[in-house]
Amino acid sequence: MAADKALSWSYTEEFMPESEPARAARARAAEFGIAPVSVGTGALLRLMAAASGAHSVAEIGTGTGVSGVWLLEGMVDDGILTSIDIEAEYQRAARESFVMAGVKPARTRLIAGRALDVLPRLADAAYDLVLVDGDPQEAGAAVEQAWRMLRPGGILVVSDALAGGRVADPARRDELTVAVRELGKEVRSRDDGLAALIPTGDGVLVAVKRQQ
Ligand SMILES: C[S@@+](CC[C@H](N)C(=O)[O-])C[C@H]1O[C@@H](n2cnc3c(N)ncnc32)[C@H](O)[C@@H]1O
Repeated sequence: MAADKALSWSYTEEFMPESEPARAARARAAEFGIAPVSVGTGALLRLMAAASGAHSVAEIGTGTGVSGVWLLEGMVDDGILTSIDIEAEYQRAARESFVMAGVKPARTRLIAGRALDVLPRLADAAYDLVLVDGDPQEAGAAVEQAWRMLRPGGILVVSDALAGGRVADPARRDELTVAVRELGKEVRSRDDGLAALIPTGDGVLVAVKRQQ
C-alpha cells in the first residue's frame, strides 16, 4: 500500500475519539486476548445506530463490550441491546463497561450461550440493526439468522469481512478465507438487500434489508 494511503487509513481509524468507557472495555479485551472492533468500526456502528434511530439492536459476540458501548451511544435513549457470547466471563466484563458508560441495566440483555443455539429463539423482523462479530466459522449461519431478525429497512453489519486482508487476495484459498469471501458475495447478491463493503478495521460488510 502506498505510504499516503496507509497514513490516511490510520488517520481514518483514529478520526473519531473513543469514549472513556469504550477505551476501558478495549483494555479489558486486551487482558483477555480478544480482538474488539476497531475505533473506526465503532464510530461506524454508532453512526448506523443513530441514523436508523435504533431501538432494538442484536449483537453476536459481546466480548468485553467495546462494540456494545459504541452501539448504545448511537441508539435512542431507551433502546435495548441484546448481546450473545459463549463466554460468561467476557459478558461480566462487558456489563462493567456498560455500567461505566452510565447505561441502565434494563437496556442490555446479555445472553450467555452459543450463537447458533440462541439466535433461532430471537424474534423475526424485530431488530433495527444486527452486528455479527462472533465465531468467524459460524458467520454464514449467523448472517442467515440475522437477516430473518431484521425489520425491513434494518441494517446487517458483519465485522472482519476482509479477514486480515486475505479476502482480497485471490491466491488465498484456505477454508476460512473462502467462506468469508463467499459470504460477502452472498450478501451482495440478495434481491432483498443493498450491500457495501467498507475497508474500515478488518473490513465491515454492511447491508440494508430493503423495504418491500
Ligand atoms: C471478536 S470478539 C467480539 C468483540 C466485541 N464485539 C467487541 O467489539 O468488543 C468475538 C466474540 O465471540 C465470542 N464467540 C466465539 N464463538 C462464539 C459462539 N459460537 N457463540 C457465541 N459467541 C462466540 C467470543 O467469546 C468473543 O467474545
